[in-house]
Amino acid sequence: MRVLGIESSCDETAAAVVEDGRVALSDVVASQHEVHARYGGVVPELASRAHILNVVPVVQAALDRAGTTLDQIDGIAVTNAPGLVGALLVGLQTAKSLAWVTGKPLVGVHHLAGHLTAIYLEPDPPPMPHLALIVSGGHTSLVRVNGHGDLQELGATRDDAAGEAFDKGAKLLGLGYPGGAVIDKLAATGNPEAVAFPRSMTAGEHGADFSFSGLKTALLHHVRAHGVPDGQALADLCASYQAAIVEVLVRKTRRAARKHGLEHVQVCGGVAANQGLRAALRKAGEEDGFRVYIPPPARCTDNAAMIAAAGYHRLARGERDGLDLDAVPSAPL
Ligand SMILES: Nc1ncnc2c1ncn2[C@@H]1O[C@H](COP(=O)(O)OP(=O)(O)OP(=O)(O)O)[C@@H](O)[C@H]1O
Ligand SMILES: [Mg+2]
Repeated sequence: MRVLGIESSCDETAAAVVEDGRVALSDVVASQHEVHARYGGVVPELASRAHILNVVPVVQAALDRAGTTLDQIDGIAVTNAPGLVGALLVGLQTAKSLAWVTGKPLVGVHHLAGHLTAIYLEPDPPPMPHLALIVSGGHTSLVRVNGHGDLQELGATRDDAAGEAFDKGAKLLGLGYPGGAVIDKLAATGNPEAVAFPRSMTAGEHGADFSFSGLKTALLHHVRAHGVPDGQALADLCASYQAAIVEVLVRKTRRAARKHGLEHVQVCGGVAANQGLRAALRKAGEEDGFRVYIPPPARCTDNAAMIAAAGYHRLARGERDGLDLDAVPSAPL
């Protein structure tokens, strides 16, 4: 089954063709980072406009690169929740129009179900059930994945997401948007013990919930007191800030894997591209005896191959959505 996936929930316009939920025949992403960089975050109105400009060429490129035509597509999957409503609507309207003119089945995909499915495009994906750590720009949660579409959230952030902590930290340090990858790069040559940052909600009673807003405030206080450093001191500050995020994520993941007796752990979402987190989780897995699965960095951040793969599982279960499918800005997993 060949599924065309379309993703436009935030600041990436993406389309992909995926076969049987396993093989990406094409995977096209048009990033809007340049559009939003000067504002230090995504401007929703500008995102919607850029999606409108990009969506048709991106879909065409995905079909061309897959060596396929719309006639040969068996279904259309589109992110319809959660995200910026104006941005979601562009992808959704495109998908509905294509479904209407071709008569192909349409399914809406929850963006996080997409992130959770990215790993199934890799050889040797995790078996069910497994534990998933979702760490993205807007979400941070630990989820027990019993099967495709059968999810149980064990805990989530009570305030900022891990990606938000990276981006807001980077903004404070004048490192541009999105800042996660910049902090990651600087942190690689820094001393993670140079500055003591808080590890929030790590006591057992907080279970699998997270909080990152205090960390951001701690960085703000540090910068107010000492200014923004440069050179090695900036690398040290980034390494220390990143270590505080990574340590909390790893500690909670270890605890959840142990508590729920899960021996397979996947990490997904943009922050899963973080080299420090990838290394720390692999080390924790070796020590605790769980196996860690992480998509390649380009499949951690937003893409449409993961949406097509998640859509495949809905279509394979016989699920269909009508042309009244709506965009939902905020939707539980
Ligand atoms: N190497 C990295 N280290 C840390 N963070 C990173 C890295 N690469 C990307 N990120 C972060 O990942 C986030 C983007 O991830 P993603 O594209 O999944 O978010 P989103 O789609 O905007 O949010 P959501 O998926 O929650 O709706 C940004 O916050 C970005 O800074
Ligand atoms: Mg995302």
